[in-house]
Amino acid sequence: MPTTVLITGAALRIGRAIAKAFAAQGDRVVIHYRHSAAAARELLAEIGGEVRGHRLIQADLADLDAAAQLIPDLLAQGLRLDGLVNNASHYSRRLLRDCDQQAMADAFAINFFAPFALMRAFARHCQRGYIINLLDQRVNAVDYQAGAYALAKKALRDATEAAALEWAPAIRVNAVAPGLVLPPPGTSPERMAALIQNIPSRERSTEEEVAEACLYLAQARAVTGQILYIDGGLHLIGGNATGERGRQEQAPAEENKIRTSP
Ligand SMILES: NC(=O)c1ccc[n+]([C@@H]2O[C@H](COP(=O)([O-])OP(=O)(O)OC[C@H]3O[C@@H](n4cnc5c(N)ncnc54)[C@H](OP(=O)(O)O)[C@@H]3O)[C@@H](O)[C@H]2O)c1
Repeated sequence: MPTTVLITGAALRIGRAIAKAFAAQGDRVVIHYRHSAAAARELLAEIGGEVRGHRLIQADLADLDAAAQLIPDLLAQGLRLDGLVNNASHYSRRLLRDCDQQAMADAFAINFFAPFALMRAFARHCQRGYIINLLDQRVNAVDYQAGAYALAKKALRDATEAAALEWAPAIRVNAVAPGLVLPPPGTSPERMAALIQNIPSRERSTEEEVAEACLYLAQARAVTGQILYIDGGLHLIGGNATGERGRQEQAPAEENKIRTSP
């Protein structure tokens, strides 16, 4: 039976692949976007448009009141939501010493407080179904260079597990932790090739593989509180997907051979 899933940040990149995968298996997709209106409209048309039950919704989730209101607004339009995929995010590299209060608040707003607000709204208003949070394999590593982003994703990891327990059995809460999928715009092919050499599988993960993991978690009735790493084994070597690994950046070149990605 087709279900309806809200996917945040779905217009481009990984979110777009997730939206296409859910739509391809017959689910109805609510495509959330912030700035990428044209791409969101194009995606809506590509997956069959509103006649197939798909919808668009715009919101800046850094506005936490808007984040908390997104699901009540959709339900007020007569929609029934079965799933939530918290994909929208903002990645920035910044040393902890440069993370002043504002930088920390900004990173936590989009990477933790907004998805958490959506999780709570889903639990309160939908009362049954599934939640999937997009994390990062860095949740298993110490990556001070990903500063507030990594800390916020770790908080979201812990919220995933706590909510899985608190909201069982009505709501299953899981997470997908990608490794190197799509590098930030501007990453050179040479840099990308070098990063891939540091992944145990020697391959980047694809957007489609991340989407398949979401499809699995959406229907896996026995699975909750799970973090599914889609990273070619990067988390097993304490990877940080940035090319530098903790304090090893200061180590002599010979000791610094095993490094991880973007
Ligand atoms: N890319 C990777 O290799 C990788 C690796 C590890 C983990 N991940 C995780 O996988 C997920 C998807 O990654 P990605 O690289 O595809 O993400 P992305 O391109 O960095 O961001 C996805 C979308 O988030 C939306 N967004 C950003 N700030 C927002 C805000 N304030 N309010 C509402 N929406 C906002 C943007 O929507 P608009 O364009 O509409 O503004 C953007 O298109 C993220 O959670 C990320 O942390 C990705």
